Amino acid sequence: EAASGKINVVPADAPLAAKTTTNNSLIFTPNTGYTTGAVTVNNQTVAYRAYKAVPYVANPVDAKYENMNIYIPENYFHNKPVGNYTKDTAPIFFPNTVGGYMPGEAGTLEARWGNTESAEAYALCRGYIIAAPGARGRSLIGDDGRYTGKAPAGIVDLQAAVAYLHANDAVMPGNADRIVSNGGSAGGAYSLLVGAAGNSQDMKPYLEALGAANDRTDIFAVSAFCPITNLDHADMAYEWSYNGVNEYAGGMMMAQGQLPLINNNPSKTTATVPQLPKINNGSATAVITPGQTTAESTTAEPKIMGNKNRNTAKKVVLTKDQMAYSKMLKTAYASYVNSLQLKDANGQLLTLNTDGTGTFFDYAKSFIIKSAEAARQDGIDISKANFLMYDKNDPSKMVDVDWLKYNKSVGRMKTPGAFDSRDNSTGENNEFGTTTMNNLHFTDTAALYATDTSPARADQHIVNMMNAMYYLGNSGATNAKHWRIRYGEADSNTSFSIPLMVAVKAANLGYDVDFALPWGVDHKSDYDLKNMFDWIDKVVA
Ligand code: DHB
Repeated sequence: EAASGKINVVPADAPLAAKTTTNNSLIFTPNTGYTTGAVTVNNQTVAYRAYKAVPYVANPVDAKYENMNIYIPENYFHNKPVGNYTKDTAPIFFPNTVGGYMPGEAGTLEARWGNTESAEAYALCRGYIIAAPGARGRSLIGDDGRYTGKAPAGIVDLQAAVAYLHANDAVMPGNADRIVSNGGSAGGAYSLLVGAAGNSQDMKPYLEALGAANDRTDIFAVSAFCPITNLDHADMAYEWSYNGVNEYAGGMMMAQGQLPLINNNPSKTTATVPQLPKINNGSATAVITPGQTTAESTTAEPKIMGNKNRNTAKKVVLTKDQMAYSKMLKTAYASYVNSLQLKDANGQLLTLNTDGTGTFFDYAKSFIIKSAEAARQDGIDISKANFLMYDKNDPSKMVDVDWLKYNKSVGRMKTPGAFDSRDNSTGENNEFGTTTMNNLHFTDTAALYATDTSPARADQHIVNMMNAMYYLGNSGATNAKHWRIRYGEADSNTSFSIPLMVAVKAANLGYDVDFALPWGVDHKSDYDLKNMFDWIDKVVA
């Protein structure tokens, strides 16, 4: 049954400020406060200085996270080069360690994501400076019991770290005009957002409240893996992909306060109502009457029991109500995609029909074919992929993708309302809480079709501040000009159309974009270091 038409929008908190003044110096001191070490990658050893836990705001709300580890090749203090770079030309690699929108501590040279090679050690050996910031996240609670890491804390912290690097460009080896951010999953979303939201005035009051360095927050280039971004439209995208996939193995849940495991299966739920006058355009006074859902959704099926079923290892079968919600979301996706006016490389408009077909659909499928072709080129056996469709006259030529078979093969891992769940239970609901409310909805649809008692949604301004799509092409922001985005062909943490839209939007703005779906890759980051750093070397050249 559809919810009542009134949406309760919770106003944004005032920018969070430190309770006690710390007054950290924001001046980098190259000759004090470091330890030394050396890393070896591919038989190349680089000695470095490590400046650990350097505060990047004067008055942190959470000092454990609002600091950064900085690694600098020793050669740069002796006017000697490393690889292609000198102390004046070295790019600054800016990886974050956020996963699951949880807090992430300042990064080290240890490999993460189950990898054997560390991206940071690899970068250092190529002569990059490493500036690895921590950032607050959704689970943090201050000593007064208030939540201190809800949106937009993560992006504010990362921008504060960027401002620190710009402010110290003259005294620190490396070139702050060459900051390249990196991250995976929620960290990939933040990497995109750091790249998109440079210098936005939206962040200003938040940065000021923390005593961030008063400097630019734009960066040069973005690397992002499996970004879980565009959260306020991701429920629709998910059902565009997974509608019709009605059962799945209940994976591990990204429970509140629990660190996500690598390659785990958190879940979520949401929607956007096709009949709404405006999608996700929350306003404090809006009274919106939801349209009818479908016949099935008003039948006697029990309401979605949230994502609690994700907690089990059992097979999950969608209820009729969930299937109807899925259909509604999928249908609504067309108007969102069409509103973007995206174009392919030939200038063709990428559109969707409400049944999910259209030029955007064909374009999306072409990336799966490209992925399969690249895998085959690398000698990988792709013959078992039942979703690849071949030319009858030329069996070596892939011509199409069976969409349902593809999505079944990848497998749904979240119930409809995958991010803004109707029961307000996901990690993303938790990310959009306030200092006093742990979880909130962040789309009108989920707020309208909510199953939690007294449903409320987050302020749209805060939701926008977490979305790279909102800042791409926004005249109030300085966008990075180089974008490398990877999303595993076998990953179902979000619809791959989510990173695809970011890539296409950036390309349509004239930016340099490298987007691909690596074959057989699931939810993972930092797996193709050589190609990734070759790309960075190329774009800074
Ligand atoms: C992550 C994974 C998810 O499925 C999600 O919804 C949010 C974040 C992650 O791994 O960071």
